[in-house]
Amino acid sequence: MKYCSDFTIVENKALNPTLFRLKLQSKDKLAPVKAGQFVEIQTIQPSSVLLRRPISIHDVDEESNSLYLLIQKVGKGSNELANLEKNQTVNLIYPCGNGFDIKGNDVLLVGGGVGIAPLLYLSKCFHKQGIKPTILIGFRTKEQMIPLDEFESFCNVYISTQDGSFGQKGLVTENTVMNHVYDTVYTCGPSPMMQSIACFFEQKGIPCFVSLENKMACGIGACLCCAQNTHEGYKCTCTDGPVFDSKEIIW
Ligand SMILES: Cc1cc2nc3c(=O)[nH]c(=O)nc-3n(C[C@H](O)[C@H](O)[C@H](O)COP(=O)(O)OP(=O)(O)OC[C@H]3O[C@@H](n4cnc5c(N)ncnc54)[C@H](O)[C@@H]3O)c2cc1C
Ligand code: FES
Repeated sequence: MKYCSDFTIVENKALNPTLFRLKLQSKDKLAPVKAGQFVEIQTIQPSSVLLRRPISIHDVDEESNSLYLLIQKVGKGSNELANLEKNQTVNLIYPCGNGFDIKGNDVLLVGGGVGIAPLLYLSKCFHKQGIKPTILIGFRTKEQMIPLDEFESFCNVYISTQDGSFGQKGLVTENTVMNHVYDTVYTCGPSPMMQSIACFFEQKGIPCFVSLENKMACGIGACLCCAQNTHEGYKCTCTDGPVFDSKEIIW
């Protein structure tokens, strides 16, 4: 079941020059949310953006009926979201998409850039079950990193930077933590990164779940613009996904 609700911005924190963390609070009780689901967000104040934007649920605070979102500024819509101020109102359709299933005891999460967004709440869900996942996060450079203390509370954190300015130098696929034999792998980030990770673990017979970020318009299964080619035909990323077993995907 999806809900359409107004939320108030209670905090907007810059984590680096292009990445912002919003805390949104509802006056109503939050709907149940699964890690990996997303919101379709629209600003209420005069906006130059017609369509809602899909944004992953980064974290959930049931006690204060709040959701956290990470916003990477890339164009008009994300700039509007990043510029929201305390007490402004946004409207959400949520929770959208299928989300991650919690599987395995020894798990690896791999995030690239803003693809780390859904992995914090996923880490918390594993933690609630007494499991401490390993998380590998890739950034281009140290300057693009964000504070990782929250991830460190729930996971063993490893970092790769392409220029070697922090953690291991190179792509996430080159990091030595990839060599361990995990029960399950979950990844979200740029498509070429997810494809390499999926290919790497498929060859080892380790299940890998990818969270796709195909462009979306309606976000609720009506326009078909988010279609993803799979071995079972075209699927809607917004309703059948965004999380897929990597073996299903035709990249
Ligand atoms: C399920 C899902 C979850 C997402 N979660 C987050 C999140 O947690 N945080 C976040 O910041 N963004 C997230 N995104 C991406 C976000 O929705 C887009 O960046 C945003 O819609 C771009 O809108 P815009 O108006 O700023 O950019 P536009 O003006 O529409 O586009 C600006 C540039 O970004 C590119 N772009 C637009 N959408 C995407 C996309 N989905 N993937 C890659 N490139 C894109 C365009 O091709 C263009 O080059 C998610 C997308 C999906 C589908
Ligand atoms: S975005 Fe419209 S069907 Fe998925």
